[in-house]
Amino acid sequence: MSIPRVRLPVALGVVSLLWLCLGMAVSAVASANADSPRVLAIHAGTLLDVDQGRALRDQLIVIEGERIIAVGPVADTPVPEAAQVIDLSSATVLPGLLDGHVHLTSRHDQHGYRGLAVSTPRAALTGVASALHTLRAGFTTVRNVGAGGFADVALRDAINDGEVVGPRMLVSGPSIGITGGHCDNNLLPPEFRAFSDGVADGPWGVRQRVRENLKYGVDLIKFCATGGVLSAGTSIGAQQYTFEEMEAIVQEAQMLGLRVAVHAHGTEGIKTAIRAGANSIEHASLIDDEGIRLARERGTFLSMDIYVSDFILGSGEAMGILPESLEKERIVGTAQRENFQRALAAGVRMSFGSDAGVFPHGHNARQFARMVEWGMTPMQAIQTATVNTAELLGMQEDIGSITPGRYADIIAVAGDPLVDVNELTQVGFVMKGGQVYRRDLLVTAAAN
Ligand code: ARG
Repeated sequence: MSIPRVRLPVALGVVSLLWLCLGMAVSAVASANADSPRVLAIHAGTLLDVDQGRALRDQLIVIEGERIIAVGPVADTPVPEAAQVIDLSSATVLPGLLDGHVHLTSRHDQHGYRGLAVSTPRAALTGVASALHTLRAGFTTVRNVGAGGFADVALRDAINDGEVVGPRMLVSGPSIGITGGHCDNNLLPPEFRAFSDGVADGPWGVRQRVRENLKYGVDLIKFCATGGVLSAGTSIGAQQYTFEEMEAIVQEAQMLGLRVAVHAHGTEGIKTAIRAGANSIEHASLIDDEGIRLARERGTFLSMDIYVSDFILGSGEAMGILPESLEKERIVGTAQRENFQRALAAGVRMSFGSDAGVFPHGHNARQFARMVEWGMTPMQAIQTATVNTAELLGMQEDIGSITPGRYADIIAVAGDPLVDVNELTQVGFVMKGGQVYRRDLLVTAAAN
């Protein structure tokens, strides 16, 4: 099934001639009906059917405007008359990937005290660059979980308005957190009165914060239920917020139609957040058997970012990460991977969340190799980043698999990711909503 990369230009070279003729015919048709939606047909050499967990050979995907209208074997799926054909017959085609935990407005080289010098408008501009890297890496949808000053709302809107190129975005705005907790800013002495936007205490305080976040345009709520690695002066194991406060956040969010993502490393904070009704536990590093059982019972997704430790311990010091954070990562990194394996074996629902922004944007897919190393099959790992995360986001009718009716969010790689999942770090074709944003695989063909 694996297709050697060297064969690609030869295989596609023959077809490119065909395109040329076809392309001329198509442009004539297209100019004749400027108003009708563009029709495209992708010939997929291999298509990953993530719903059924299988690979299909020689499939045709027909796209009209921004949505998929038909999928079937090339042999018995007609190419519509006006369709422009995109030849990926030597490639593996799969749904655009989803990352449920990113920080597009953050940079991997601005950790610790360096971050204090970054204004909200500057962070928003970082978001513009990160959005492009992320989309070109094959991630066509992301959930941004934590940004100051609603820079993430602005970025999402600019992408939706077509001013900025990037993935589909769901955004949380400022993460909600206790005074002095992981989602606060604890770097400066009291006379500077530094605190993060999302700080709120008490059941009514947190409810007000949820309301305010919605007022300024968020799609979901994120709160911090334990200390964290990268914050100053917080302990990973310490629960932050009482059950009463967590329940207030979740109830308020649900009442207003929002889902809740919860940062939690520590054992008790994880369980309290699941009991309070969290939709996903982010990190989930020190989850115990009871937490795993609770997550299974409640259908809570675990979003375990098991690549990021490599970056923090490998490059973190040079990027400004505090010594105390490096110390915490040494404790949490390996435990998280072992617990990922246990939770997987227990059948907990897993989504894909990488924490990109802590490490360079566009490197999100590096996590797949870790997921496979710690117990998933390549197909399972791919399912976390497609169907599972689509469900977590409540977008399963629109994205997550290549199915008629869904958005044409489609990517391709030259090799076979079911043999080597690391192929996903080399995405060579990206389409979002029927628009092509990366076509390296095709350019190779045109050059021959
Ligand atoms: N943003 C997270 C925190 O500061 C990063 C945790 C990274 N470590 C890990 N093993 N997942 O807590």
